[in-house]
Amino acid sequence: MSDHLMNTYAPLPVAFARGEGAWLWDEDGKRYLDAVSGLGVCSLGHAHPTLARVIAEQAATLIHTGNLVRIPWQERLADKLAGVTGMDRVFFGNSGAEAVECALKITRLIGHARGQANPGVVVMEHSFHGRTLAALSATGSRKAQAGFEPLVGGFVRAPFGDLHAIEAIARRSRDISAVLVEPIQGEAGIRLPPPGYLTALRAICDQHGWLLICDEIQSGLCRSGRWYAHQHEAVVPDMITTAKALANGLPIGACAARGPAAEVLSPGRHGSTFGGNPLVSRAGCTVLDIMHEEDMAGRAARVGGAMLEQFRTRLATLPQVREVRGRGLMIGIELDREAGYMKQAALDRGVLLNVTQERVIRLLPPLIIDTEQAEEIVEVVCGLVGEMPG
Ligand SMILES: Cc1ncc(COP(=O)(O)O)c(C=O)c1O
Repeated sequence: MSDHLMNTYAPLPVAFARGEGAWLWDEDGKRYLDAVSGLGVCSLGHAHPTLARVIAEQAATLIHTGNLVRIPWQERLADKLAGVTGMDRVFFGNSGAEAVECALKITRLIGHARGQANPGVVVMEHSFHGRTLAALSATGSRKAQAGFEPLVGGFVRAPFGDLHAIEAIARRSRDISAVLVEPIQGEAGIRLPPPGYLTALRAICDQHGWLLICDEIQSGLCRSGRWYAHQHEAVVPDMITTAKALANGLPIGACAARGPAAEVLSPGRHGSTFGGNPLVSRAGCTVLDIMHEEDMAGRAARVGGAMLEQFRTRLATLPQVREVRGRGLMIGIELDREAGYMKQAALDRGVLLNVTQERVIRLLPPLIIDTEQAEEIVEVVCGLVGEMPG
């Protein structure tokens, strides 16, 4: 490892030289099955031929102009995203955290416009919203926040899935302007709320005039088996943050909004040098087209559903397994002990996987994996879990 990199990651001792579909090859030519997708990013797999051609073509034509001029590819991407989210307008940044920042800034503008002096946002325990200061302050992890105080103020926290806690906040706080929630908590270990939770949250927000913001950065773009995970319930948020898979690996993040939240920004109030440039926007358009044409949501539901069923059948009764959970190709297997070593153990068996919260095996494979590849992941994971002393 270079001494010149800041010490922010603890990478596995492997580097990949190339990829194709769900396969990766390391520098020595060993092949691995990717069950992480660069943390939910490469949903269409690696070196997708259409995407590679389009990116190369756009790079050879026009990469960047800045938002001082119109960007037709950005306009097309906004139209497509409005179509799949049901939102009215979109702002483009370069990461998930920036999408969250945009949503939080909009929330403050709306709160002030409604006469709130210090508009607050209800956020959830164990949530993850990114590493920039406001997104980190919204995040429900003391470990991630420790040392970065003073945090940005205005966040009120509730346990994920607990509607009574939200109602209690509504009774005691006058200055709340929004609720920010992941429809499925990703970093927390693929945690699903109880059925009906988002519908009830929507109703509470409507009752109090709060905005409902769904952070779909990890759960969105077909991963859960729907375009966006909140769509498993008949809920329409006021804002949706989306990023990761949107350009299959080129940096992009978007905050999509409807109603007053879509109208409150005006020129000069928010912006980004790179946001929505021609290269990334055209890649985003291509990703959305492919996801549509190949029914990626249906595929994730089908293949992920089969994987989940196999894990439940083969693992759920083992004493070391606390819970098998997930939706689509977003799967978590919670163990009763530290499981970090499994990342290397799986690599040794030719599978790249992730462990979050120390004890949850997290699987976010490319959405294009076929049944055989899914079965190989299941075999390796079940083998590793089965070999743990009971
Ligand atoms: C739900 C959620 N929100 C926000 C983020 C932050 O995204 P980024 O790392 O692109 O800033 C992540 C990243 O994992 C995430 O899972």
